[in-house]
Amino acid sequence: MQTGDRSRRWASRARREVHHALEAGIGHSAAGTLTGGFMIVLAITNAIACALWSVPQIHDSHGAWIRALDIGSAVIFGGEYALRLWSCVELPFFAQKSPWRERLHYASQPVQALELLTFVPTLVSLVTGFDLWATMMLRFVKVARYSPALHSLGRVIAAERAALFGALVIMTGLVIFAATMIYFIERNAQPVAFGSIPAAAWWAVITLATVGYGDVVPITPVGKLFGGLLMIAGLAAFALPFGIITAGFGREATRRDFMVSWLLVARVPLFGGLDAAAVSQIITLLHSRTFDAGDVIVRRGMAGDRMYFLVSGDAIVETDDGEVTLKEGDFFGEMALLEHRPRSSTVRAGTRVRALVLDREDLERLARRHPAIMARIREVAATRRRVNRGEVD
Ligand code: CMP
Repeated sequence: MQTGDRSRRWASRARREVHHALEAGIGHSAAGTLTGGFMIVLAITNAIACALWSVPQIHDSHGAWIRALDIGSAVIFGGEYALRLWSCVELPFFAQKSPWRERLHYASQPVQALELLTFVPTLVSLVTGFDLWATMMLRFVKVARYSPALHSLGRVIAAERAALFGALVIMTGLVIFAATMIYFIERNAQPVAFGSIPAAAWWAVITLATVGYGDVVPITPVGKLFGGLLMIAGLAAFALPFGIITAGFGREATRRDFMVSWLLVARVPLFGGLDAAAVSQIITLLHSRTFDAGDVIVRRGMAGDRMYFLVSGDAIVETDDGEVTLKEGDFFGEMALLEHRPRSSTVRAGTRVRALVLDREDLERLARRHPAIMARIREVAATRRRVNRGEVD
C-alpha cells in the first residue's frame, strides 16, 4: 500500500516537473527557456530544410538528411505532445473530472489541435508512402506557440474584429463599384479583359491594392482617369485594415510582455476552483506585465482602470499604517475599480514582479460569467477597507 502511495506521489511529482518544463515558457524557468528555445530552433530548422528540399540539387545530394530531420522532428514533437497530454492533469483546472476526460478536453483546445500538424503528416507519409515533405513548413506553428508577439497579433485581430469587418465591407464595396464602372467604360475597347463585371474585378483588385501588375490596363482616356482616381481611393481604403492592426499591435505590445499561460493562471488561488473551460475563457481576458523592483505599479490618488494578480515577486502596498507585502497569488488594484474612487494606496514592486492584468471592462465580463470570483474579490476589498479605516487589525 505504502509502495503504491509512494509511486503515485513520484508519478505526480514527475508530471508536475514535466508540465512546468513544457508550459512555463521562455523566460519563466531554466527548463521552460531550454524547452521553448529548443522547440523554436527545431521548428525554424525544419522550415529552412523544407525550403531547401525544393532546390533540386540539394534534394538530390542531401535529401536523406532532410528526411531524417523530418522523421526525427516528428518523433520529438509527437513525444512533446504526448507528454503535454500526460502531464496536463497536474493543473488544478484539469484535476476535477476523470484524468482521461480532462486530457480529452485539453487536447480539444484549438492551440493543442494545431500541434497535431507538427507530427501527424509525417506519420501519415510513413504509413501511406505519400510524399508530404511540404508539411515540414507547418512546424512553424511551434514558433507561434512560444512567441508572445504572435499571441499579441492574434489578440489584436480578435479584439479589432468589428473594425476589421467594417474595413472589409468598405473594400469589398469599392471593388464591386470599381469593377462595375470599368466594365461599362472599357468593355467595348477591350471585350476580353473587361467583358464582364467578374472579369473586370481582377483589374479592380490590383488597382485598388496599388499593385498594378500591368497585365490588364485601361486604354480609353476615361478609363485611365478612373484608374488614377481609383488608385488614390485604394491607398486610403486598403490602408485601413493595416492601420487598425498596427495601432492595436502597438497598444498590445506596450501592455503585455509575456504569454498568459495555464501555468501562470494556476498560481492565482482565486481561479483555483474553476474548470478548464472557464480558465480558457479567463485567459482571453488577461494580459501580462513585468515590473522591476522599485517600480510604482499604482499610485495613490490616481484613477484606476485595471487590477493585478501577482504571479511572481512581491508587491508592497503603502498604507497609512505601514507597508503590507503581497505575495504570489495575491491581487491588488481592485478597490478603485469596485468603488469608482481613486487609488487608495501606492503599490510598488518590492522585487521583480510579474503580474496578470485585468482591465475594468474585462473585470465586468468576469463578474457576469463568474459571480463567485467577483464575490471573493469584493470580500477581500471590504476587509482591506476596514483594515485601512482601523476597524480591524
Ligand atoms: P486600489 O485602491 O485600486 O489601489 C491600491 C491597492 O492597494 C488597493 O486597490 C488594494 O488592492 C491594495 N490595498 C489597499 N489597502 C490594502 C491593505 N490594507 N492590505 C492589502 N492591500 C491593500
